[in-house]
Amino acid sequence: MTHRPVLLAPTAAVGADLDAWLQNGGAEGLRHALAAPERIIPALARAGLRGMGGAGFPTHRKWSSVAGQSAGDKYVLCNGNEDEPGTFKDRHLLSASPHQVIEGALIAAVAVDANHVLLYVNPHQHEALKSTRAAIEQWRASGLLAPIERRLGLRLALDVVESSGRYIGGEETAVIATIEGGFPFPRRKPPYPAESGVHGRPTLINNVETLANVTHILRHGADWYRALGIGEACGTKLYSLSGDVLEPGLFELPMGTSLRELVFTHGGGMLGPLAFKAVFTGGPSNTLLTADDLDVALDFDSVAQRGSRLGTGAMIVISAGTSIVRKVAEYVDFFAAGSCGQCTPCKTGTYQLSRLLRRIDTGVGVQADLRALESLCALLPGSGRCGLVDGAVTVVRSSMQQFREEYERQLID
Ligand code: NAI
Repeated sequence: MTHRPVLLAPTAAVGADLDAWLQNGGAEGLRHALAAPERIIPALARAGLRGMGGAGFPTHRKWSSVAGQSAGDKYVLCNGNEDEPGTFKDRHLLSASPHQVIEGALIAAVAVDANHVLLYVNPHQHEALKSTRAAIEQWRASGLLAPIERRLGLRLALDVVESSGRYIGGEETAVIATIEGGFPFPRRKPPYPAESGVHGRPTLINNVETLANVTHILRHGADWYRALGIGEACGTKLYSLSGDVLEPGLFELPMGTSLRELVFTHGGGMLGPLAFKAVFTGGPSNTLLTADDLDVALDFDSVAQRGSRLGTGAMIVISAGTSIVRKVAEYVDFFAAGSCGQCTPCKTGTYQLSRLLRRIDTGVGVQADLRALESLCALLPGSGRCGLVDGAVTVVRSSMQQFREEYERQLID
């Protein structure tokens, strides 16, 4: 199937050059937004846009919630922390084409009447940070913010904020804590940021890819966007493909492209002679997809029907030669290291999961270790303020169910 990219189109890849962006249709979406602000949120609903940070929450519902809050200070936060293994889409968008992201965030400010627009960027992603900073300087100097300020009746603050660079710093309530000057400790929800975010004010937090899509929906229309997807799925998706494939990389494809097409057509197939074994989806905190799932459409609903999650669209492919136990141990190590430590079950639970997996992987594990893993998988879910520990459990539990014999083969008793 031939497909023309939108977010990765050459006309969007102008780096921080605002003039080049404007010559290629830039600011058209913002102009449409300013001409009819009341039509923005209905357009997102018609387009079927969903949150690309991993959860797939309907974007228009979040925007409506913030728009409906009382007037006063409101925040739009573009979450570019992106630090989970296998996901490398947001840093690319911010580096190669930050204007489509910033324009989307400005359209959000028009829709919800926000007077603060903050781009929250991971400082370890140097290019993304540099490019976003340079792009923002140009928007500030351009005069393009003036019509938004006239509508608001307030000055619009447009800024970059560096994240802590920690994985947990991307969790939305940790984003808020960081912006308020604190350590990135997540808190329980509700209240959702839409009701009570930065300094208790209504706050709209969206992922980089979500906001980039908004720009194009406002420029070309909701029906155009909807039709880019396959079947009931809407728009396009950035799939971060990595692991044991011949041509890993970032692919923008119609939402709903099959896993088979992504791996075997776009990814060039498996590396070497080894067979496809499984995919960790972004990630990697979801139920594994296996060879039985190759024909699943990679959209939020279809992957959920298989009992997994599309997440950020990251697909880490492993081949028959790769040990599931070792891979899972690596990811659980990552989660254990990333736990912020404020919830004891998360801090100690992820550590214990990691210790047991390492015992089994290194050939000193016994039946009791497997039982201890199972018991932790039953005990831990729901015990943290955020989803970190649940994600770690999901990938352990799924791997133990789907590849039980690999675990048992490694035990010494
Ligand atoms: P969530 O399901 O709690 O919420 C999703 C979004 O919808 C949030 O912005 C939330 O505030 C909003 N929301 C939910 N119900 C709402 C309501 N009634 N009113 C207003 N807003 C509402 O999911 P969460 O914890 O924010 O994200 C989980 C996802 O994040 C996972 O699927 C995971 O894949 C992904 N993730 C992404 C990472 C990355 O680097 N991009 C890192 C870690 C996880």
